[in-house]
Amino acid sequence: FIDYILLTAPDIEQCVAGDGICIANVINFIIKQHPQGIPEIGLDALDAINFDNIIVSEAEPDTPLQLSLKFNSLTVHGFENTTILRAKGFEKQYQRGFELVGFTPLLRLDGEYEATGKLLLLPLEGKSQARVQLKDCKFTCRAKAAEDRRVEGKLFLKITKFKCLLIISGLHVNFENLLNNKELSDTMNELINNNWQDVWQALRVGMNSAVDQVAETILTRVLSQLSYDDFYKP
Ligand SMILES: *[C@@H]1O[C@H](CO)[C@@H](O)[C@H](O)[C@H]1NC(C)=O
Repeated sequence: FIDYILLTAPDIEQCVAGDGICIANVINFIIKQHPQGIPEIGLDALDAINFDNIIVSEAEPDTPLQLSLKFNSLTVHGFENTTILRAKGFEKQYQRGFELVGFTPLLRLDGEYEATGKLLLLPLEGKSQARVQLKDCKFTCRAKAAEDRRVEGKLFLKITKFKCLLIISGLHVNFENLLNNKELSDTMNELINNNWQDVWQALRVGMNSAVDQVAETILTRVLSQLSYDDFYKP
């Protein structure tokens, strides 16, 4: 019985199934030791994660939020500094689902935004570069998975549901070239940053689902390569 994890990533310890503390420690170890990822288990680099077409908000008639905001391209920095505080549900037999609670001191999103509509009653229009920084991100992510027993008899998991709750202590944005005007743009960004709590309230659901997409993509890639049977000490 050759163990897959030991084979591909020799420094990663296996835990006894259900040992949430060990599992959180192993995930933290992987994040710290392998910020560039582990290709053998499908783990991408965590320090710069690239995405296309991330929709943060879509204007809908008759709702207070009249803003369409998306990132045509997006690079997320800062996941490499994540600490997992708690891991639940990692039993030998997959049961109800998983929960991970963690903390990321700073998430920096750099990309090309496209916005039309209004935010805090002000026109927010533009298509240029943007940087969005989320400070002290505390997240609780819950995942459900379906079992996928492959030809060779190994059990893999496929995520069927994934949702994070994100709480932050600060938001700072810089949307370049809003309204095609440097001065107006600076003023708008300042207004947004001075009222970040209201802005966060308006964008929270969308930002949250953007973070969901990012985290789910990372996990899905790992789970498609790493058998659940190989997670734990035999
Ligand atoms: C991650 O932590 C390192 C070391 O503390 C720091 O230099 C770096 O700026 C952090 N990354 C982000 C995106 O905050």
